[in-house]
Amino acid sequence: MRLAPILHLTEHDVRGDRRWTGRAVLAGVICRDVLVVTVEEKLVAVRNRCPHRDVEILSGRLDTAEGIIECPSHGARLPLKGVDLCGRPAIWQDGALYLVLDDEPASPATNTESLCQTGQREV
Ligand code: FES
Repeated sequence: MRLAPILHLTEHDVRGDRRWTGRAVLAGVICRDVLVVTVEEKLVAVRNRCPHRDVEILSGRLDTAEGIIECPSHGARLPLKGVDLCGRPAIWQDGALYLVLDDEPASPATNTESLCQTGQREV
């Protein structure tokens, strides 16, 4: 299993729901604004920005049954694992939080790169 560390973690309490924000480090590129939420007792890391106006979605209402988070700005329902938020599993390991990268050739690479396609890279 390939893992990418999520650095600069901050824990948040959003209406009693624990969430984390941080920066995923992928292939030496620091990608900002990763949000980690819990869905059915599993952690899911997504881009912390909506695709419409680049609004932070940290405080959005989470619908775990549908796998959707609402943009707090105008309520658009964004699938956690859709092309906009690029949801991927996350895990705690040795006290650190990691994005889980699998080894499938096409779509995971696309999703992973999408996490970095917001103009928020640091090189
Ligand atoms: S402002 Fe976030 S989806 Fe429209």
